[in-house]
Amino acid sequence: METQAAAVEGTGAVDEGVRQIVASFRGRKGFLIPLLQAIQHHCGYLPADVLEYISQELLVPLAEIYGVCTFYAQFHLKPRGRHIVRVCRGTACHVRGSLAIMEKLKSVLKVEENGTTEDLRFTLEPVACLGACGLAPVLMVNDETHGRLTPEDAARILDNYA
Ligand code: FES
Repeated sequence: METQAAAVEGTGAVDEGVRQIVASFRGRKGFLIPLLQAIQHHCGYLPADVLEYISQELLVPLAEIYGVCTFYAQFHLKPRGRHIVRVCRGTACHVRGSLAIMEKLKSVLKVEENGTTEDLRFTLEPVACLGACGLAPVLMVNDETHGRLTPEDAARILDNYA
């Protein structure tokens, strides 16, 4: 497990909030997923040292914790941006140019797909259909939907998110 733990990020993240959250789950049954959700809500992701702390405090094998973290897409082992940019790569958006939007944003943000900017401002993710095909091509920033975009429009939209 050492290799896996070393491959993820996060040191010095066991703060008082983490200690209180972990303590509140002590002795509960079926606590691991809700505990990880609470920790991720608090930290923004699941830092390696927090996972080790959980393992030690609640006597859960680290391998089991990583098994859960890597099985469920909702969990993130690396820091994410304050704003999550989701570029739709579904069929309708693809036909209307979403690849060019993705390439533009990769260039502007200097990240690859699923990457996070160095300043932790944005994480850029490709997603399947966002359910707004009539507005294709579509992207979402956090929970706001933007449609009928050119690559330049998409880049400009990000200026609104400090
Ligand atoms: S394919 Fe993009 S919103 Fe449906």
